[in-house]
Amino acid sequence: MTGLIVAENKREDDSSSGSQYQKGVKHLCENGITIVPNKYVLPLPERPINATSEEGNHIQLPIINFAQLQGPDRQQVLNTLSKACEEYGIFQVINHGIPINVISSMIDVSKEFFELPYDEREKYMTSDLSAPVRYGTSFNQTKDGVFCWRDFLKLVCNSSTSDILACWPSSPVDLRQLVFTYSKQTKSLFDMLMKAILESLGLVENENEDHFLQQFQDGSQLMFINFFPSCPEPELTLGMPPHSDYGSLTLVLQDEVEGLQIQHQGNWFTVKQIPNSFVVNVGDHLEIFSNGRYKSVLHRVLVNSTRSRISVASLHSLSFETVVQPAPKLINESNPRRYKDTDFAAFLKYLSSCESKKKNFLESRKFTSIERN
Ligand code: OGA
Ligand code: NI
Repeated sequence: MTGLIVAENKREDDSSSGSQYQKGVKHLCENGITIVPNKYVLPLPERPINATSEEGNHIQLPIINFAQLQGPDRQQVLNTLSKACEEYGIFQVINHGIPINVISSMIDVSKEFFELPYDEREKYMTSDLSAPVRYGTSFNQTKDGVFCWRDFLKLVCNSSTSDILACWPSSPVDLRQLVFTYSKQTKSLFDMLMKAILESLGLVENENEDHFLQQFQDGSQLMFINFFPSCPEPELTLGMPPHSDYGSLTLVLQDEVEGLQIQHQGNWFTVKQIPNSFVVNVGDHLEIFSNGRYKSVLHRVLVNSTRSRISVASLHSLSFETVVQPAPKLINESNPRRYKDTDFAAFLKYLSSCESKKKNFLESRKFTSIERN
């Protein structure tokens, strides 16, 4: 009991020097901490249960064999895909054709970036949410009451700026080239997955619907390189709070350390890793476009007491100008329109105005029964 009080007092002391947390978790850890400072301690009901237990609750996601999707069994794979998007809002892609060396170089260079001295990483810190490169910490560091145990590097991958690469970090020296190659590979995988998804929704092979595919393929691509340092008390905090991604699809690459959890049928499950595969989750834009048939999955990230973790999320969304709305063909009397029109501006306004957690944004775009009438 006395020990507990001492620990809590120490926690209080740690939180007194405010702005150090803006520098990120890596910086904090480098200064040597043995307990999680108050700033990162979640209220009891939001803490992860079983964060440290070996077994935890694991889930094997539906598997999409991408190579098979291109062959005579396409229809069978499309059925698996549509079931996965309806029931889970997430699936795992194997045999995706992206060379192993592209994947391992992406992970390696990400690790090297976070190993750079703080002064080098700090150059890319900015409060401008639309900057082509942004280094930051937590989820929304200007708004989060409790911080999460995550530092990140965000890179805009498509842009009207002719030389976007020149904006990316110049160190490690091969970062620009490796991330560029990786981003091109993930973009073409996204393009083909999106084509399959439209097909699985019955929106194909007709001139009227081809423009949907074009809209998705002409959208934006953002890369979030996430770093989750090992944490002395992983049961008190999270690497990322529960959230849904706002785009159409997110392609997630993880190193060998697990931590991604999804909410499925009301419970949290840790995603089982398949080495060199991609975890692909449905985002809010696709949920709206499919008029709610495909679910953008609620997910979060656990941290780990022994190992740091790297993940790379390639977030694909409709372009800034495109209005996101349910596809007309997916609306009928028995399945009325469920969401209001949304654009990126509305999303950004939302993001900068609140502590973005849960599926709040999507909820705000739903029609209430009164509005619909
Ligand atoms: C994200 C995300 C999951 C992970 O970057 O939006 O949910 O496994 N990442 O790190
Ligand atoms: Ni996410």
